[in-house]
Amino acid sequence: MPKHGGQNSQKEQEEIRMKFFADTSDIDAIKDLADLGMLDGVTTNPSIIAKSGKEFIPLIKEITQVCSGPVSAEVASTDFDTMMKEGEKLATIADNIAVKVPLTEAGLKVCKRLSDAGTMVNVTLCFQPMQALLAAKAGATFISPFVGRLDDISQTGMELIADILTIYEGYPDFHTEVLVASVRHPQHILESARMGADVVTCPPDVIKKLYKHPLTDKGLADFVADWKKTGQSIL
Ligand code: E4P
Repeated sequence: MPKHGGQNSQKEQEEIRMKFFADTSDIDAIKDLADLGMLDGVTTNPSIIAKSGKEFIPLIKEITQVCSGPVSAEVASTDFDTMMKEGEKLATIADNIAVKVPLTEAGLKVCKRLSDAGTMVNVTLCFQPMQALLAAKAGATFISPFVGRLDDISQTGMELIADILTIYEGYPDFHTEVLVASVRHPQHILESARMGADVVTCPPDVIKKLYKHPLTDKGLADFVADWKKTGQSIL
């Protein structure tokens, strides 16, 4: 059962829709998803930035100019003091920055401080439900459980999502959104939607796979061929 049900105003509907974030720093791919109307935010991590070969801060700034939704930019240090400084600097890039911090003791402290100061925080590298409980208590805007990496070690990543959603539902004062991360294929998105997860962050090609079906292609080819036989034109 989706966790949000019943009649809602237009604004509430906008707030509760399942959000699609692009898990990439590829500007062209981000623009492409925006054109498709399937872009609600962007997530990056140090590996994605390294792969881009580009300079971090200008790249994140460029992404915030293309995407008006939350753009996650991750701190690079692991100690509290440096993470705080990095987080505060990242937060100045744009109003829609979500500072990403790892799920460590120092990361939770940074989450609490930045959240209290009004900055969006995405707590990343979550692999068990109690970590998600702590992130919510620290005021995280998003918790990022990594489903694909759990699948990779023969655990069932989606069970973690179900557990976190159940725990959060029991505490209506938590406003942390469950952001399903490390998504590898459409089945992860289907299961996330069935469970009512708030957000999925996906490589753009996985989002594009969602609309493809061989019967759609075949049906369209038949319709185009039959329409030609009529010799008519709508315009
Ligand atoms: C996004 O926030 C995560 O960093 C990303 O989804 C991790 O994905 P991966 O496990 O495929 O690297």
